Amino acid sequence: MDLGLQNSSVVVTGAGSNIGRAIALAFAAEGARLTLGDVDEEQTVRVAAAATDVGAAAAQFVRADVTALDQVERLVAAAHERDGAIDILVNCAGWDRLMWFTETDPDFWRKVVDINYLGVVNCTKAALDFMVPQQHGSIVSISSDASRQGEAREAVYAGAKAAINAFMKTIAKENGRAGIRCNVVCPGVTIPEDADEVGAASMWRDRESMFTDDQLEKVARALPLRKLGRPRDVANAVVFLASDAAAGHITGQVLSVSGGYSMIG
Ligand SMILES: NC(=O)c1ccc[n+]([C@@H]2O[C@H](COP(=O)([O-])OP(=O)(O)OC[C@H]3O[C@@H](n4cnc5c(N)ncnc54)[C@H](O)[C@@H]3O)[C@@H](O)[C@H]2O)c1
Repeated sequence: MDLGLQNSSVVVTGAGSNIGRAIALAFAAEGARLTLGDVDEEQTVRVAAAATDVGAAAAQFVRADVTALDQVERLVAAAHERDGAIDILVNCAGWDRLMWFTETDPDFWRKVVDINYLGVVNCTKAALDFMVPQQHGSIVSISSDASRQGEAREAVYAGAKAAINAFMKTIAKENGRAGIRCNVVCPGVTIPEDADEVGAASMWRDRESMFTDDQLEKVARALPLRKLGRPRDVANAVVFLASDAAAGHITGQVLSVSGGYSMIG
């Protein structure tokens, strides 16, 4: 199926590592024009080059911390300036450190909420400022199955991700009349395959600090599909939901891509 993404203007945040990197490369393979935002310049410039190699019609890196509204405004403005439109925003930047709630403090809570939730709010506002006047657009935000199930050692993160789900449904209701679709993808445990896929700021830089091999094996065994997710699994769902040709009548939905971990919705 032709997803109709050739030359579409796509902004991806957190595009340097793991899932964001796979999303960038999946849109690149469809011939999209990419604007990649991240705080990790070295890694994301490498992703932009890889995107060009696999077929992106254009690929640029713009340094943008999603917690800073002025920086994400510059990110989407750079896409609009180059492409004359912003067709798709993918909110992928996220961060967590696995800890029991009782071990965490207010500085940690604020950081988790700022990056995971307010980052999505900032980028969505910046993109809507262009999408509403142009009367079309598609926004896909990356949440987590922790938002649906709750997850030990991810209390504030799970809450921030649940906030994304509710926020995106609301934005979908408010902006459907402007031809704008908004959907959410909830990954389960999704691990990079090799070192090229993670930059300095990736949560997976020190994988053992996230999960030991033993824990990963247990997670895989517990899933209905008996395997862990790979970044490409999430990227495929994002590209599908972003495409008007494939998903033009789908909005306000929260889709788990997690090997069956969450059977909700
Ligand atoms: N990998 C998983 O198992 C998993 C599971 C559920 C949900 N998720 C979500 O998927 C998304 C991607 O996860 P990942 O595993 O690829 O993470 P990752 O840590 O490998 O990559 C995150 C990227 O975001 C960038 N980033 C971090 N803070 C930023 C900021 N303030 N502004 C801009 N960029 C920033 C990092 O530099 C990095 O390139 C996140 O939203 C995460 O919460 C991941």
